[in-house]
Amino acid sequence: VKRELVGGFELDDDRARVDVAAVHRYLAEESYWARGRACSDLEALVQEAARVVGLYDGDRQIGFCRAARCAPGLFYLADVYVLEAYRGRGLGTALVREMVEAGPLAGRSWLLHTADAHDLYRRLGFGVPGERVMELRAAPR
Ligand SMILES: CC(C)(COP(=O)(O)OP(=O)(O)OC[C@H]1O[C@@H](n2cnc3c(N)ncnc32)[C@H](O)[C@@H]1OP(=O)(O)O)[C@@H](O)C(=O)NCCC(=O)NCCS
Repeated sequence: VKRELVGGFELDDDRARVDVAAVHRYLAEESYWARGRACSDLEALVQEAARVVGLYDGDRQIGFCRAARCAPGLFYLADVYVLEAYRGRGLGTALVREMVEAGPLAGRSWLLHTADAHDLYRRLGFGVPGERVMELRAAPR
């Protein structure tokens, strides 16, 4: 599925189009959650994903997110980013909206972690789960 956005940007869930080197560069060097991740790990995660959505400015990969399948009705949203120069004009919202409201995973349940983007996800219906969700955190390495 390709979706044209205002400004000529494009969303595309074709995993063959993902510029793994570009996504890896952002995640391994700039993100706060996947610093140092091996490119081979990202490559595998892209291949194994239930769905990926890339954000493109022409040929340039400027954003990305992926969904991991936990159960038939439950997915985990991960590796959401928009390059800094492109932030603040609705592209991050459009990217996540495409994943959770359109395409084959629309209307499923979702989990995610975030340090500071709660407002963005809240607008799309995410909430703090409360007592029903638990987590086992790995010890810092
Ligand atoms: C979070 C992110 C994807 C948002 O992308 P974006 O294109 O700027 O998003 P939008 O323009 O659609 O919306 C931005 C809105 O999200 C909110 N927001 C919450 N946390 C934010 C953050 N860390 N950075 C930017 N916006 C944030 C802002 O309040 C803003 O609201 P506004 O439109 O009322 O000003 C982008 O800032 C990013 O890649 N950040 C670094 C990586 C990251 O934190 N990813 C999320 C991991 S869970």
